[in-house]
Amino acid sequence: STADIGVVGLAVMGSNLARNFARHGFTVAVYNRTHAKTTELIEAHGDEGDFVPSEALEDFVASLKRPRKAMIMVQAGNATDAVIDQLAALMEPGDMIIDGGNAHFENTRRREAALREKGLHFVGTGVSGGEEGALLGPAIMPGGSEESYESLGPILEAISAKAPDGTPCCSRLGPDGAGHFVKMVHNGIEYSDMQLIGEAYDLLRRGVGIEPADLAKTFSEWNAGELDSYLIEVTAEVLGHVDAATGKPLVDVIVDQAGQKGTGRWTVQIALDLGVPVTGIAEATFARALSSGTKQREGAVDVLTGPTAKVDFPADFVEDVRQALYASKIVAYAQGFDQIAAASAEYDWGIDLGSCSALWRAGCIIRARFLDRITEAWRSNPELPTLLAAPEFTKIVTDAQDAWRRVVSTAALAGIPTPGFSSALAYYDGLRSRRLPAALIQGQRDFFGAHTYKRVDREGTFHTDWSGDRSEIQL
Ligand code: 6PG
Repeated sequence: STADIGVVGLAVMGSNLARNFARHGFTVAVYNRTHAKTTELIEAHGDEGDFVPSEALEDFVASLKRPRKAMIMVQAGNATDAVIDQLAALMEPGDMIIDGGNAHFENTRRREAALREKGLHFVGTGVSGGEEGALLGPAIMPGGSEESYESLGPILEAISAKAPDGTPCCSRLGPDGAGHFVKMVHNGIEYSDMQLIGEAYDLLRRGVGIEPADLAKTFSEWNAGELDSYLIEVTAEVLGHVDAATGKPLVDVIVDQAGQKGTGRWTVQIALDLGVPVTGIAEATFARALSSGTKQREGAVDVLTGPTAKVDFPADFVEDVRQALYASKIVAYAQGFDQIAAASAEYDWGIDLGSCSALWRAGCIIRARFLDRITEAWRSNPELPTLLAAPEFTKIVTDAQDAWRRVVSTAALAGIPTPGFSSALAYYDGLRSRRLPAALIQGQRDFFGAHTYKRVDREGTFHTDWSGDRSEIQL
C-alpha cells in the first residue's frame, strides 16, 4: 500500500481532484466502476504524478496507506450509498470515507452515524469551484470527526485554493453534516447572487436599453471595485459573448428557463424548518421556478399588461443599480450566515462563521473580495446579532439605501420584476422597524383562534373575549 488518498468515481470532478492530489505530490489511488474511465485518466494525465489505478475495488482499498482515505465523487443519492457500503465492507476501523458530492446533510448525518458504529470515519465535505476549481484549487468544506481531520486535513488543505493572505480555503467546520450544510448554504447564496445580478442586467437592458456588449463593460468595471467577485466576472464574460451561428449576443439566444439541481431548494426547505428568513435565497429559487413554469408564462404573456405610464429612469441609474446590488447581496449573505448559525445551534456543530467566510474567499463560486470584510466582521465579534449590525456593513447598507429605494420603486413603475432587490430591501426595513404589523396578526389570531398574545406593558399571556363582552383575560 502506497497511496496517500484514493478517489472513487472518475467523472470530471473526480478525475480533476485526483489530478490535483497527484500534482501536489500525493500518491493517488483511482477507481471507477467502468474501468475504461480509469484507463483514460491514466493515459491522458498519468505523467502529472503518482497514480495507482485499480480495476477491482478490493485492489483499490488494498493500495491505500492506513488510515485509508477514500474520497467518493459519485452521483448524490443511491449511488453514494452503494459505494459507501462496498468500501466500508473492505475497510478497517480508523479508515475514512470522504463524500465530496453535493449530498443532503441529513444523509451525511445518517451515513456518518452508521459508519461510526463500524469504527470508520465518514467525512461529508463540500467542494466548490466547478471543474476548474477541482483541478486548480477548490474551496473545501469538510465535516466529520476531529480525529479524521488530523490526517486528512493537511492533504485537503494542500490541494485547496489559497486566500489572498495565503491561508488554505479548507478547514474543518464541525462534526457529521456541518460541511455539507455549509456547502448547501453556499449554493443558496450562489442562487441569490446570480438572481441579483440577473435583476441588475434586466433593469439596465430592458429598462434603460443598454446593449449586452456595453453591459459587459459595466460589469467589468464593477468587478474592479467593491463588487469584485467571480460571479460578476463570469457575467461580463457571458454578456460579452457573441453567438457564432447568429451573430447575436449569446444571452439573447439562450432559452430563459433556469435549471436547478436541488441545493437551493434544500436551503429554503431547511430554512423554513429552522424558522430563519432567507428571503433572498427563497426568492432566487422561486424566480428560477417561475422562469421554468412555462404553462403559466405562456398563459399570461399575452393577457397580463404592464405599466401604461412612461417611466423616467433616474439620472445615475447604473450607479443606483450597482449600490442596490451590493446592498442586496450583503442582505443575502447575512441571511445565509443566520441559517448556518441556527443549524449549528440546532445540531450542536459549533461552526465558526469567521472560518466559514474565510474559506469562501477563494476557489468557490461565491468567492468575492468583500468576504475578507465579512471574515473580519465575524472575527472581531462572533456574537453579532446579524452581519448587518457589523459597523462596516451597517454603513454600506445605510449609504446605499436611497439608491436601493430608487431602484426598487423604479423597477415597480417600469414593470420589471426584482424579487431579489425588493425582498432584500423589505428585509432591511423589517429589521429596522421598531414596530411591525405582527401585533395586528397576533390580534387576528387571538380573534379567530384564541391563540393569545403578549402585551407591551405587562408580563403574561392574554386573550380578549372577542365573541363575548370583549373583556381581557390573563391566562
Ligand atoms: C460549486 C457549485 C456546484 C454546482 C451547483 C449548481 O460550488 O462549485 O455550486 O456545486 O455548480 O450545484 O447548482 P444548480 O444546478 O442547482 O444551479
